[in-house]
Amino acid sequence: MSPKELLVDSAVAGQFTSDSKETKSRSRLGVIVTGVLGGSLVALYAVAAPFVTPALRKVCLPFVPATTAQVENVITVLRARSGTLVDIGSGDGRIVIAAAKRGFQAAGFELNPWLVWYSRYKAWREGVHRSTSFHISDLWKVSFAQYSNVVIFGVPQMMEQLELKLASELPSTAKVVACRFPFPTWVPEHTAGEGIDTVWVYDAKTFKSHQIHRHKCEH
Ligand SMILES: C[S@@+](CC[C@H](N)C(=O)[O-])C[C@H]1O[C@@H](n2cnc3c(N)ncnc32)[C@H](O)[C@@H]1O
Repeated sequence: MSPKELLVDSAVAGQFTSDSKETKSRSRLGVIVTGVLGGSLVALYAVAAPFVTPALRKVCLPFVPATTAQVENVITVLRARSGTLVDIGSGDGRIVIAAAKRGFQAAGFELNPWLVWYSRYKAWREGVHRSTSFHISDLWKVSFAQYSNVVIFGVPQMMEQLELKLASELPSTAKVVACRFPFPTWVPEHTAGEGIDTVWVYDAKTFKSHQIHRHKCEH
């Protein structure tokens, strides 16, 4: 091989090596971009899914946080009460935390794990983590029998079914507060606030006897 041929040969080999390096680094970049994109999509799905899936359920109960006036109305109507309190579908924990600050041993049941973790963090930051507890649970699969004060910010489509559940589970000494949407057949003891901030207070003794009467009439 002549020196000229050798020179051309090594130039071609050099070109080939740099081409294959470039191809390798391009494919590495491709893997990184795909990984980052895929990871971001999975993370986005993990965060968004718990907020979107309630819309796909038979009864859609989305996360709509209580207004400040609504929280104040709940606390006002329960001012003479004490003991245990539960917020059914506790969202970001604002009602549970406000109740704990007024001396209640307060619990929240919530389907969305992000909201539960956020509520726990907020309760810890606001110094009420010892008097609060937050559970990742489906409200239809747990019993509220141990609570003497119950708060629900639901939707009209679920209230009739919830009436039956609470009437059969709660002690006669309990009070139930409905926010924004009242129960369809129970008669409230009193109400507070107006418009979207209205809350209705129900006495368990009344709605339990009403339930027994209804049951007797039906049979
Ligand atoms: C209207 S928001 C009320 C939030 C909170 N109670 C407040 O007043 O700020 C209803 C909450 O119920 C939750 N939820 C929906 N379906 C549920 C279920 N089956 N069990 C428990 N929580 C549920 C939603 O994720 C949402 O956070």
